[in-house]
Amino acid sequence: MKYALTSRILHWVMALLIIFLLGLGIYMSDFLDEDSANRLVVYNLHKSLGVVVLILVFLRITNRLLTRTPALPFAISALEKKLAKFGHFVLYFLMITTPLSGYLMSSFAGYPVKLFAIELPNFFEANFKIAGFFSEAHELSAFTLLGLIVIHILAVIRHRFFDKPGNDVLNRMM
Ligand code: HEM
Ligand code: HEM
Repeated sequence: MKYALTSRILHWVMALLIIFLLGLGIYMSDFLDEDSANRLVVYNLHKSLGVVVLILVFLRITNRLLTRTPALPFAISALEKKLAKFGHFVLYFLMITTPLSGYLMSSFAGYPVKLFAIELPNFFEANFKIAGFFSEAHELSAFTLLGLIVIHILAVIRHRFFDKPGNDVLNRMM
């Protein structure tokens, strides 16, 4: 049994967006010149796509609750099943905390957050101490997410190529 079509579409659209945003975020903070003419465009693209992820993750959680999740292959050990469930739970958690901390960082720093042409509300007064906290939180959350995605992909590869044939899980998500 496969994941529902809606689950598969959401998984792959979000995977592409998140991997792109991780790269763009690292580019912005480590490689983009302070006075580059593209700075505003790049930041706004990062923020807009980040807000799209935040919206999609709530849709995805609703979809998760409304659709049937296929049981993991029988031959995968109980411990591995627990680890997979826990890992997926943490992925969902980080898919919320990463964009949310980004939004709060920008808001508290007094910068607008745009969803492309739409300027989103800024709920807070500028406060650089709190902005600094959310900046650290955004970095920590994003890099933990990156690490877990690497482990996630390695696990998929292991079950596909280095495990019993029945334990392939990639076909459930394709
Ligand atoms: C899933 C969504 C997101 C991912 C994966 C992501 C990832 C990242 C990463 C990896 C960095 C570099 C961190 C560093 O090295 O300090 C970064 C920076 C940044 N992110 Fe995000 N981000 C996301 C969503 C957002 C959102 C929604 C906003 C704001 C609305 C945002 C605003 C920023 C800003 C302003 C920076 C630059 C901070 C600086 O200049 O040092 N991000 N992001
Ligand atoms: C190229 C990269 C990726 C591959 C090959 C991949 C592959 C898969 C596969 C095969 C599954 C199904 C596991 C099962 O059978 O239960 C899965 C589930 C999942 N993936 Fe990915 N994935 C990738 C990227 C990502 C990214 C970037 C995220 C987001 C952070 C993510 C989050 C999840 C979550 C949360 C689940 C659990 C779904 C659920 O049971 O609700 N994946 N992935």
